[in-house]
Amino acid sequence: MRALIAMVLWGAGLVSVGIVSQTRPPVGYEGGCTDAGCHDKRHKRPVVHDPVGEQTCDACHELTNEEKHEFKFPLSGAALCFDCHEEHEGEVMHSPAEDGECTSCHDPHASQTKALLKEETIAAVCIDCHDDMREDLDFLHGPCAVGACTMCHNPHGTDHAMLLPTEGPGVCTRCHTEMGARMTEKTYKHSPVEEECTGCHNPHGAKNNMMLKDYVPQLCVDCHDDIQEHAEDSLVKHDALTQGKSCVDCHQAHCSSVEHNLLKEPMDLCLSCHDKELDSDQAKLISIADVLQENPHHHGPIAQKSCTGCHGVHGGEVFRMLIEEFPPGFYESFDKKRYALCFRCHEPELVQDERTTTLTKFRNGDWNMHYLHVNRKPKGRTCRACHNVHASKRPRHVAETVPFGAWDVPVNFEVTETGGTCLPGCHRRYSYDRGKAVINIPKK
Ligand code: HEC
Ligand code: HEC
Ligand code: HEC
Ligand code: HEC
Ligand code: HEC
Ligand code: HEC
Ligand code: HEC
Ligand code: HEC
Ligand code: HEC
Ligand code: HEC
Ligand code: HEC
Ligand code: HEC
Ligand code: HEC
Repeated sequence: MRALIAMVLWGAGLVSVGIVSQTRPPVGYEGGCTDAGCHDKRHKRPVVHDPVGEQTCDACHELTNEEKHEFKFPLSGAALCFDCHEEHEGEVMHSPAEDGECTSCHDPHASQTKALLKEETIAAVCIDCHDDMREDLDFLHGPCAVGACTMCHNPHGTDHAMLLPTEGPGVCTRCHTEMGARMTEKTYKHSPVEEECTGCHNPHGAKNNMMLKDYVPQLCVDCHDDIQEHAEDSLVKHDALTQGKSCVDCHQAHCSSVEHNLLKEPMDLCLSCHDKELDSDQAKLISIADVLQENPHHHGPIAQKSCTGCHGVHGGEVFRMLIEEFPPGFYESFDKKRYALCFRCHEPELVQDERTTTLTKFRNGDWNMHYLHVNRKPKGRTCRACHNVHASKRPRHVAETVPFGAWDVPVNFEVTETGGTCLPGCHRRYSYDRGKAVINIPKK
């Protein structure tokens, strides 16, 4: 055996130099095993196992033959370690730890890293046996990127699947305390989030931003295929689902103080986009927010902050995504069904009964003017010939002007105590009176 010059650094910087020229220490050698200059190399690392530092080599190496310098382990496998360390417990054990292969990860003597690891980093220890899942991922989770695998996995064992410290969202909210607080505070919680965060996020990283398992809306419609079908099959599609951030422009992914996990109160949500002119396939859509601001008389459902009393959100079968039928033009051959939208909330008798003294104020004596105008075939006037649907300058939502092709026809409506007068672009000035019928066209 060749001579060695060993510099052994122990404890508080004590340096000793020894020159040795023997294959084994002299019989009865009294000094530490490393002092002899033989077994020093591996102990010169920054992190030294306590019993090694204290030269109690015999805690693990029991001398069996002094002459031959032979040793055996007093205990084998993990038992050797558990002689001093607390035994690992857990319903889910990491197989190398369970099999007592402590030294597949730990150096029993000394190492470069804390916890006497055999590699320089924790992650390097793990990927000795596991694939490095961080490769090929564009977005890496912070703790995973720096290799803090043991922030989430106990290397020995736990009571929870995947060696995790706990179950469910707690795995994540231990660090994401703000999200944990949000989930406690908010009334409406998205049920998969209550179950576990990994339904949507990959804990290590992903090809998508935010470590999402898929991009929105695909992520969402993987579970909500009914919404996707509805949106795709709809005759009238809402671009809100295909533009921008899609579902998450309207819904919170985790929780919300608004029902259906909406980002805002429903009407404010609609107006957050419909506060400007929007391009649709056919035409420019007016700004509904402007309409509501400029017209003080808001239609009942809107006064109650609902747009969905009339419109769908994910798509619909009727023009303008209306939830029930409503004629799109100025004229419509009368059929009650065609006004199903209005008759969700208003009585159909309003336009069905020719004579009435109660159903409507729009009557001349008992002659129902609604019936007269609307209940015609083939050229009944639709409600839009006189009314605004969202809001109006006048009570009863009588419009100032109504669209007739290229012309915005003025209505020139004036209300009186018992009736009203109009001089629309349709006929000469006519009046109606609920007390005594006005004769607008004298009998010849
Ligand atoms: C905590 C228990 C423990 C202590 C203390 C310990 N060893 Fe070891 N030693 C081991 C184990 C376990 C192995 C088997 C190596 C393996 O499986 O990686 C080993 C292997 C060895 C080997 C042979 C294999 C090799 O790595 O070259 C030598 C030499 C050795 N130890 C010397 C020492 C000396 C010298 C000391 C005291 C300074 C010491 N050991 C203290 C556990 C210990
Ligand atoms: C003779 C007692 C003894 C035996 C046997 C023993 N250790 Fe230790 N070990 C200690 C002491 C003492 C410490 C330092 C105090 C502590 O951290 O608990 C320690 C610390 C450690 C540490 C922590 C080091 C750090 O920097 O955090 C690891 C890892 C470790 N031992 C692994 C093992 C392994 C693996 C075995 C079996 C091969 C083993 N020990 C056997 C006494 C022992
Ligand atoms: C798969 C690798 C691996 C195996 C196998 C393994 N450990 Fe560890 N052990 C680690 C890592 C990594 C740490 C450091 C944890 C940290 O700092 O987050 C650690 C830490 C320790 C510590 C320091 C205190 C603690 O619990 O954090 C001790 C002691 C320890 N291990 C003992 C053992 C014993 C005994 C065995 C065998 C029964 C064993 N280890 C098997 C990877 C392993
Ligand atoms: C010595 C090889 C080895 C090392 C090193 C190792 N593992 Fe493992 N690990 C295994 C084996 C074997 C299994 C069991 C695989 C199986 O059941 O399919 C496993 C399983 C796991 C599992 C899944 C547990 C389950 O319930 O299915 C996780 C999580 C895990 N290891 C994390 C780690 C982490 C984190 C590290 C680094 C601290 C690490 N492993 C280091 C060998 C290793
Ligand atoms: C933020 C917590 C977290 C961190 C950090 C983390 N993991 Fe995981 N890991 C998990 C969770 C949660 C699962 C279970 C995934 C599931 O159920 O879909 C898992 C699963 C695993 C599995 C088993 C299933 C699989 O995907 O192969 C292995 C192996 C694993 N992790 C290794 C690692 C390694 C190695 C590191 C460090 C580079 C690491 N993990 C860092 C949370 C984490
Ligand atoms: C050990 C602490 C820790 C744990 C546990 C943890 N995270 Fe993280 N996570 C972080 C840190 C640190 C960041 C980076 C924060 C930043 O850049 O603002 C982060 C970032 C994220 C981001 C991106 C946030 C953003 O605004 O870009 C998501 C999404 C995320 N984590 C989800 C999870 C999920 C899901 C889990 C559970 C599987 C989890 N985290 C567990 C520490 C943790
Ligand atoms: C139903 C799918 C889903 C689940 C389950 C889920 N997330 Fe998310 N998460 C998302 C989506 C989608 C985004 C991106 C939101 C956006 O772009 O507006 C996101 C973003 C995040 C962000 C960054 C943005 C923010 O709001 O702070 C964090 C952090 C986060 N999630 C953590 C978690 C945690 C922690 C859990 C478990 C408690 C969890 N997520 C469960 C879908 C989900
Ligand atoms: C892992 C499956 C899953 C994913 C992914 C998922 N959801 Fe859900 N979502 C559910 C379940 C389960 C419910 C509860 C259904 C119920 O109560 O009928 C639900 C309910 C909802 C609700 C209804 C809440 C209510 O109170 O009416 C909305 C809105 C919703 N999810 C939107 C989304 C959005 C947006 C995404 C994508 C960011 C998404 N979901 C991703 C499973 C999922
Ligand atoms: C323009 C805003 C908006 C967009 C974009 C949007 N939603 Fe909705 N969503 C709503 C509103 C508003 C409701 C409540 C409907 C109601 O009150 O009738 C709702 C209700 C829901 C519901 C629960 C009630 C139901 O119809 O089953 C689910 C689930 C849902 N949305 C999923 C999604 C998914 C998935 C996406 C993306 C593909 C998405 N939403 C896109 C506004 C939107
Ligand atoms: C009482 C039923 C009703 C309510 C409530 C309602 N709408 Fe409408 N909306 C309609 C009808 C009917 C049309 C078609 C008008 C037409 O073409 O004459 C329409 C048309 C629209 C249009 C297309 C405008 C254009 O330029 O053609 C948008 C955008 C719209 N509504 C958004 C909203 C929003 C946002 C709300 C809530 C603030 C809302 N609607 C509430 C019935 C309603
Ligand atoms: C994220 C932005 C956004 C939100 C929020 C939004 N919309 Fe839209 N909406 C659009 C865009 C863009 C269009 C025009 C393109 C199209 O779909 O034709 C549109 C079109 C419409 C149309 C006309 C559809 C047609 O083609 O005839 C109606 C009606 C409508 N939205 C109602 C609503 C209602 C009701 C809400 C609230 C539940 C709402 N929108 C919320 C972006 C939004
Ligand atoms: C979701 C229910 C709902 C729908 C659908 C609906 N309305 Fe209304 N409407 C109301 C409510 C509520 C009022 C307010 C009644 C009140 O203040 O007495 C109202 C008031 C009116 C008024 C003024 C009545 C008054 O006394 O001031 C007119 C005109 C009107 N609606 C026309 C229509 C037309 C035309 C349609 C079809 C396009 C329609 N409504 C669809 C609920 C609805
Ligand atoms: C030719 C014009 C005209 C048409 C078409 C018209 N209305 Fe009216 N409507 C009026 C006038 C004018 C009033 C106000 C009567 C008054 O208060 O003196 C009114 C009042 C109403 C009212 C308030 C209650 C009442 O009758 O006094 C409702 C509701 C109403 N209309 C619904 C409708 C619906 C629904 C349609 C389509 C099916 C429609 N209107 C078509 C002119 C019209």
